[in-house]
Amino acid sequence: MSTGVNKKLIERGLGVADFKTFEADKIWSRYSNDKVVIGEGLGRVIRVLSKTLPLAKPLTALSIGSSNEPQFRILETAFRGGLYLLDIEEEALDIVKERIRRQWTDHVSTIRGNFNKIFLDKKNTVRFLKAKLGGRKMNLVTLHHSMYYCDESKWMALFENLYRKILAPQSAVHAVLMASNSSDDCTTTWLYNHFVGKFFGLGNNQNLREFKRGLERNSIFSGAKTFLKSHHVRFFVDDFEKFMAVVWMILLYPDAHKYSLRQREEITEFVYRKFWKPRRPLIQIQDHLALYRGLRTSARII
Ligand SMILES: C[S@@+](CC[C@H](N)C(=O)[O-])C[C@H]1O[C@@H](n2cnc3c(N)ncnc32)[C@H](O)[C@@H]1O
Repeated sequence: MSTGVNKKLIERGLGVADFKTFEADKIWSRYSNDKVVIGEGLGRVIRVLSKTLPLAKPLTALSIGSSNEPQFRILETAFRGGLYLLDIEEEALDIVKERIRRQWTDHVSTIRGNFNKIFLDKKNTVRFLKAKLGGRKMNLVTLHHSMYYCDESKWMALFENLYRKILAPQSAVHAVLMASNSSDDCTTTWLYNHFVGKFFGLGNNQNLREFKRGLERNSIFSGAKTFLKSHHVRFFVDDFEKFMAVVWMILLYPDAHKYSLRQREEITEFVYRKFWKPRRPLIQIQDHLALYRGLRTSARII
């Protein structure tokens, strides 16, 4: 370890590498404006849906990779026809289940499952519609920070199956993802690309902007309009363990990249020097994609 580094603190930063994603996400949600920015985008998408669909029609929504659904209040109130929360982590869903019981919001359901296994396969998608959504198509599908967990080569198949089998004729998809390129070394994108490139020789191809162009070229989506907008989000918490728990989530450890102990030490020391010691916030440039199907929207709303 280099001199001038607080060894105990580094050890504490390493100790939180195995946090559950929902625990790290909770810290990120609390100490950044991510959920505020996403909530504003979601509000605009709901406005578009509300403008076209009859006021008396109860709307339906599916949140993919919902975690304990930080947008619960917005989604629960807007989607009284059924809100379905899908996640792979039981602990995250248990938090929502307790809330559903306590607040008698029984139009909300939790579903434990792997969205790749369900939606990358046409038959499984149809089965899911029948078994888990009661055969009812969705007015909204959200993918808030969950497309990282699906290889970008499969994104088109994911959207095609959602579009054909899950989305109602008048509906929307709202997806949010960290931008894939940035030369600013204070961003989550730079941090991810730097370490994944250095340790595994990998790049980041999860480019929502590029994906939007692919959607526009694909005739399956000819009845849809897509919009994309970038936002800046800031994160800082005056607790090194909490700061590092979020860094491990952003670096997709251990789900996608299993950094060795030596590599984790290097990452922790870097974060300590670059962000935590000078009290510098970590910036996230994030892309929001809205896909509108069968909706009256001439304005560029996202
Ligand atoms: C970064 S969190 C985002 C949570 C929430 N949507 C938000 O915006 O805060 C990603 C979520 O996706 C879930 N997830 C990851 N891979 C998944 C998969 N294959 N199937 C279902 N959920 C998955 C994780 O458990 C986690 O709760």
